[in-house]
Amino acid sequence: MKCTACKKEALIKLPRHNSTLCQECFQKFIQKQTLLAIKRYHMFAKDEPVLLAVSGGKDSMSLWQILHLLGDQVHAIHIDLGIGDFSRNSRLVAEEFARNQNWPLTVIDVKMETGYNIPETLKLTHRPACSACGLVKRYLLNRYALANHFPVVATGHNLDDEAANLLGNILRWREDYLAHQSPILPSFHAKLAKKVKPFYTLTDDEIRTYAQFSDLPFCDEICPLSQRAKSLDYKKALALLEKQSPGTKHYFWLTFLEINERIFQSHRPAVPFLECTRCGMPTTQERCAFCNIFYPIEQKENL
Ligand code: AMP
Ligand code: FES
Ligand code: ZN
Repeated sequence: MKCTACKKEALIKLPRHNSTLCQECFQKFIQKQTLLAIKRYHMFAKDEPVLLAVSGGKDSMSLWQILHLLGDQVHAIHIDLGIGDFSRNSRLVAEEFARNQNWPLTVIDVKMETGYNIPETLKLTHRPACSACGLVKRYLLNRYALANHFPVVATGHNLDDEAANLLGNILRWREDYLAHQSPILPSFHAKLAKKVKPFYTLTDDEIRTYAQFSDLPFCDEICPLSQRAKSLDYKKALALLEKQSPGTKHYFWLTFLEINERIFQSHRPAVPFLECTRCGMPTTQERCAFCNIFYPIEQKENL
């Protein structure tokens, strides 16, 4: 099997792109797909500072390396969720890599910010673990971006994450979520950073192979709190469909993006943004969901 690009021995088959690639050409392919995604959606310009959320997993570690290779101005941020060994190991991977590469990284500790780590936070709310944790991460990321003048926050969400999310949104016909599901979420408010997902065309397997070919360290543990998350079932269902009919997963997600504007985004209700009466961050209610968890109304007088 020869590499379609350079004729050396190929290691990887990419049926969707009708090619077989050697290690080096595969790495270049992934880097090029990332650059194309950034340009296609005007995610950010070369001189725009990007805040990259780094979990320590294969996706964000690969994205960190690629954005540096592409010459983008990246500042990484890791949120220590306080979920036992999973968080300790994830944080170590990110910190050690930043130190070795001499790249900027900020670590935010959820417990220091809120008084509660994620397992403790779950006792304050009825939300499922991933929903509460996601809310806390999004809030802290946005608040840090705002305070430090980063107009854009990038995450390592990939095609498998997005396809699973899409399936979940369709199964429950969450029109509002469908309207907003995109590789780019523009800033709707002066206090909301733009969110971008430069890996939206790349699969779990492709990124894992990229990280391994590039000798990147990453934490491969599954969060113990998300083991029963629905998104894992959706990923499994899509993997089964993909096995029966290759190409299904790409078609499902990428075609959705083409038709989304026509079908869901045109019906997007104009939500008037208010500012949270406690923290001042944008919200659709009187108080934001973050403050409702950590500062329930009964405690308001004690603040
Ligand atoms: P996940 O939902 O765990 O698949 O993560 C999706 C993306 O969110 C990752 O690729 C990161 O960009 C970001 N992310 C998740 N967890 C963290 C964390 N603890 N700190 C910083 N970024 C994170
Ligand atoms: Fe958030 Fe597991 S990483 S619940
Ligand atoms: Zn608030």
